[in-house]
Amino acid sequence: MLTYKSSEDFKKMIKAGKVVSNIHYEIFNKTKPGMMLKDLDNIAKNIIEISNVNSSFFGYTPPGHGPYPAYICASPNDAIVHGIPNDTRIQEGDIISIDVGVSYEGYHADAAFTYGVGEISDEDRFLIDTTKHALSEAVKLVKDGQKLGTIGHKIDKIATKKNLGNVKNYVGHGIGQEMHEEPQVPHYGKKNTGFELKTGMAICIEPMFNLGSEDTMVDEDGWTVKTIDGKKSAHWEHTIGLTEEGTSVFTENLF
Ligand code: MF3
Ligand code: CO
Repeated sequence: MLTYKSSEDFKKMIKAGKVVSNIHYEIFNKTKPGMMLKDLDNIAKNIIEISNVNSSFFGYTPPGHGPYPAYICASPNDAIVHGIPNDTRIQEGDIISIDVGVSYEGYHADAAFTYGVGEISDEDRFLIDTTKHALSEAVKLVKDGQKLGTIGHKIDKIATKKNLGNVKNYVGHGIGQEMHEEPQVPHYGKKNTGFELKTGMAICIEPMFNLGSEDTMVDEDGWTVKTIDGKKSAHWEHTIGLTEEGTSVFTENLF
């Protein structure tokens, strides 16, 4: 469903977004080699419990799936998205994509960032920075009257120019009282085509770039999406509102 938000609704999304930003900040600062991915999930769980919000992910049940068993998605290295935080140990040189969503008084915010653990290779740094850059360029285009094809085109152009694989099998989404609402937000497209954004809408833009092929596969756990060639992947996502005062990112990156 496509929904419009009032300024009262946006206030709730802003509150949810602040908690999402805090969780990312804490996870980023506490991540150390030797920890398990599920330790990062516990950090999120603890903050959610004291922040008067609900997890958007825990128990989330898309068609054809069992309920999602964790508070974050943790997708290291060749994992692109939807990684279940398991007992895998984090190592120096890993890159990890963390995705978190919460709701406050029924309104959701959702964001994903990728960061390196300790020293990482120049190539991996380039992958992370380029994906982050593509998201920020996309955010600059969000405004009343803008078409999603223009935004998707911008993201895809950056990936192509930098010779990175741009994942097309997973898309961004509208967000509000549901974590996933209309419209779908593809990270590719044709300028001046597609869905037209309007004041009162909120969307998640979430480019995923790979060092190799854009092709994806789903792991045996039924959730974790990986690159087909084992090369690394980065994911950056923000929740963005088209408010009466203009475009606003609700999930600022604090690190
Ligand atoms: N944050 C993801 C997205 O952007 C959704 C996570 S799905 C869950 O669409 F199952 F892990 F909750
Ligand atoms: Co999302």
